[in-house]
Amino acid sequence: MELTSITGLKGEVSIPGDKSISHRSVMFASLANGMTEIHNFLSGADCLATIDCFRKMGIKIEEHQNRILVHGKGLHGLTAPSETLQVKNSGTTTRLLSGILAGQPFSTSLSGDESLNSRPMKRIIEPLTQMGAHISSLHGNGCAPLVIEPGKLHGIHYTSPVASAQVKSCILLAGLYADGETSVTEPILSRNHTELMLKEFGADIRTVHQLAGSEATSVIQPCPELHGQKITVPGDISSAAYFIAAGLLVPDSEILVKNVGINPTRAGLLKVCEDMGGNITLLNERTEAGEKMADILVRSSQLHGISIHGDIIPTLIDEIPIIAVMAACAEGTTIIRDAQELRVKETDRIETITDNLIAMGCSVLPTEDGMVIKGGEPLKGATIHTLLDHRIAMAFSIAALVADGRTKILDSHCIDVSYPGFYDAFEHLL
Ligand code: S3P
Repeated sequence: MELTSITGLKGEVSIPGDKSISHRSVMFASLANGMTEIHNFLSGADCLATIDCFRKMGIKIEEHQNRILVHGKGLHGLTAPSETLQVKNSGTTTRLLSGILAGQPFSTSLSGDESLNSRPMKRIIEPLTQMGAHISSLHGNGCAPLVIEPGKLHGIHYTSPVASAQVKSCILLAGLYADGETSVTEPILSRNHTELMLKEFGADIRTVHQLAGSEATSVIQPCPELHGQKITVPGDISSAAYFIAAGLLVPDSEILVKNVGINPTRAGLLKVCEDMGGNITLLNERTEAGEKMADILVRSSQLHGISIHGDIIPTLIDEIPIIAVMAACAEGTTIIRDAQELRVKETDRIETITDNLIAMGCSVLPTEDGMVIKGGEPLKGATIHTLLDHRIAMAFSIAALVADGRTKILDSHCIDVSYPGFYDAFEHLL
């Protein structure tokens, strides 16, 4: 994709369904008794990989555009797949599914693409093994392909060294099949969609906050059954982020970004925009099935650099690529710390962000757990190496809209992982 600068983005955009919530909706629906109807499901490659895995385990799933019908067969209704489950680029599929598979009476193996197969899986292998699961890394390197054999699961209390919703959810899902209570304490509450949605499906699950706004423990009891639901997936704030940033950065813009999930465990971006001086207004705030939503009105703004660190990081971890682009366009210096998890995402995002910002003429210093970005110098068009990371492709597409000259986004098709139709949505705002 080749892009040049523009001015005056105007209009409304409806954001596709949240990726994290879409994955969970298909997983829990497959394990529920009866049918689940899912509206605004995200038909991106990652979530389609989740659908494919459950179909291979005997679940009938009908796709009617972004309305999905899942014919759940109950907690013990999955059947052995005849081949390796392909999780493609999806860390959420891999880690959450592993928790479910650990509780099944049949063996499975699961493998992804090159990026996925190099991401750390010890973080789930260790706690699942403590629960009595038989899970191993095929090549012994702590990464997928993973092999999961039947095992008898026990409830445990696990203290996670990282605030990771994938790790937490993996353990809680295995807890559905354990012989007693399972709990996970994490250093900072990570996104809590699993807890909110499993409760809607009838699970006995709760979160206990030990210290306000920081350490939290989620507790689940073994579950007799889950019940099919009707679910409407909120728009993904991680996808909305690109339109919010475009509205702030592109001169003479006013965009209404509609139906955005603003769950507090996900909405750190909004605070960052405000702290940077962004003109954003939340309208029509509401809550559906425990998930907060709003429409977000964004107007062009002059941003300034800030420091981003500590408890807010898990609430905006996927938005750091676009926050870095905003920082490059802001007056002054932005410092991002405590974000070492960026190194184990679809790419090492500290490196991919730094390399591409430098290519656009921005002064950036990468650190072990973040980066220091000196903003304010005009960006210049460049060739962006996405390394097939969807969020890098989208973040730098926004940078291209305010850069001098032409920008080429290599492998921009990787955007389909989380936002098919991303560029078309921009066309409507021109
Ligand atoms: C996700 C959790 C986050 C996030 C990822 C989706 C989820 O990962 O970065 O894109 O759906 O649970 P971690 O749990 O590894 O932080």
